[in-house]
Amino acid sequence: MRKVSVDNLCEGMELGKTIYTSDGNILLSAGMRLKSSYISRFKELHIAEMYIEDEISKDILVDDIISDEIRFEARVEVRKAMDAVKLGEKLTTRAIRNAVNNIVDELLYKDNLMINLKDIRSSDDYLFCHSVNVCVLSVITGISLGYDKDKLSQLGTVAMLHDIGKTRIPYEILNKVEKLTEEDFEIIKKHTTYGYEILKESDDVNAYSKIIALTHHERYDGKGYPLGISDSQIHEYSKIVSIADVYDAMTSDRVYRKRVKISEAIEYLIGLSNYNFDYNLVRSFIEHITVYPIGTSIILNTKQKAIVVDINKKFPNRPIIRIITDEVGEMLKEFIEIDLTKNNSLVIIDEIENI
Ligand SMILES: [Fe+2]
Repeated sequence: MRKVSVDNLCEGMELGKTIYTSDGNILLSAGMRLKSSYISRFKELHIAEMYIEDEISKDILVDDIISDEIRFEARVEVRKAMDAVKLGEKLTTRAIRNAVNNIVDELLYKDNLMINLKDIRSSDDYLFCHSVNVCVLSVITGISLGYDKDKLSQLGTVAMLHDIGKTRIPYEILNKVEKLTEEDFEIIKKHTTYGYEILKESDDVNAYSKIIALTHHERYDGKGYPLGISDSQIHEYSKIVSIADVYDAMTSDRVYRKRVKISEAIEYLIGLSNYNFDYNLVRSFIEHITVYPIGTSIILNTKQKAIVVDINKKFPNRPIIRIITDEVGEMLKEFIEIDLTKNNSLVIIDEIENI
């Protein structure tokens, strides 16, 4: 299977991965053939990319770092919790903590913690999907820092709840298509203190969750909000969540802007290390990010187009690729698979949205 941007989807293409919504339903099952009405619906929902199965991507397997069931359960629970808060109910976190423990259990026993799959999400589900992804990315960082299971569960839970204060921000501002005004931005900033207040009122939330909801937009150099605290004053959980939060937000499409490439997000994080972010934590984080995940279409220095088939963990920029076209874009009669660690003359120039 391979990843295709929604703008490049065509009628008749076969869906490679089931798309779930956060309210407990399947939007479309793997194996279904796309109709133009589905494609229009994906665009309405601001779904950016999709995995499809076809001849040129045959036998390319793209596995999520956690199982669909576990990711799905976590999304449903975070949605339920946020819906309850919106209705003014007291927050209970047992189900969320359970979902986090399942994520931690799955990740702890993986021998390869490289992120290959971009979760498919709609604009309506953004906040829930974002919360789960920040949790997964934070826990992976915690594992590479040598955290034990209890710390990983704590970190995962604080990550899952970091943006709970957004439930008090008006929908029109969170999903505004136009550029945010200074005033809008001031309102959005309040989600940190709102998060702290919501979690303070709950009986079964630990102190870390409250602190991280409050401080996940603080920055290493003291230029964050709401408190303007810096380095040693910021809890390590908060520093990790802030990196995962920025990375996930940058690499996701939003109603008001398109996602950036993984390579650009990594460059951004490295560029701001020791300014916005803790350098060592950024290093631990990016160890698990592949610039060209499996199923990504790329263009080579020879102008040939190819699909990433597998990753070389030690050389993430030199994956194993399947060359699909020649220099002028003509489809090859027989595709060629090349391990880029064994061929120095070929260089990946960029990722592309389709072959
Ligand atoms: Fe936030």
